[in-house]
Amino acid sequence: MSHPTGFSVIAIDGGAATGKSSTARGVADRLGFLHVDTGAHYRAMTAALLKMGVQPLENTALAEALEQIKLETAVDGLHAKLIINGKTPKGTDLRLPEVNAAVSAFAALAPVRSSLFAYQRSQTAVARHHKLPGLVMEGRDIGSVIFPDANFTFFLFADESTRIARRAQEGQTDQISERDKMDSGRKTAPLICPDHAERIDTGALDLAAVINHICERVAHAAP
Ligand code: C5P
Repeated sequence: MSHPTGFSVIAIDGGAATGKSSTARGVADRLGFLHVDTGAHYRAMTAALLKMGVQPLENTALAEALEQIKLETAVDGLHAKLIINGKTPKGTDLRLPEVNAAVSAFAALAPVRSSLFAYQRSQTAVARHHKLPGLVMEGRDIGSVIFPDANFTFFLFADESTRIARRAQEGQTDQISERDKMDSGRKTAPLICPDHAERIDTGALDLAAVINHICERVAHAAP
């Protein structure tokens, strides 16, 4: 499928287990774009901060810990991976129950978010450096805060039973509704559907149909 000749940014937001990651990966694979999972960034920060013995509170200990954290990027195929203090955390470590339980509390803190803001914006430079024609970034605030000027902005949602069934299928313990409540209720960069986003019900469409729909939108915008 074709894509615009210029560099494009696709923002995909949504609550927990709405199918963001599978969709974003599928779209990136189809279009040859760089895939960036910002949930993994917050999970990696959470795992690192927990390891440093830091509590999810806005205090000096947090500020000092954040100062010690150095972020870099490795590109594996079309997937950008966060390197934190020289190490790429394993996917399984990012999905541990203690990380699931603490990630939204850390993600609600303004200093944690600001420490990732420039890093996430800089992923366009990573994609360009690898001569890729665009970037698909998934998260909670991509269309609202990180790339409010993205070329394409989507917001995924699904009914709760579909989302619980998805996590159960993955064999995961996850606090889906608790995380959504915290993510939507926080002061800094809450989970919202931006006005300009296209909403997609991933409970009503299967994964292939969602990926097709997004890729069609991009193809139709191609000059
Ligand atoms: O996408 P995932 O469920 O892995 O995200 C884990 C957590 O990271 C979310 O529940 C949210 O607290 C936080 N997050 C965020 N902003 C993003 C991406 C994730 O606050 N852009």
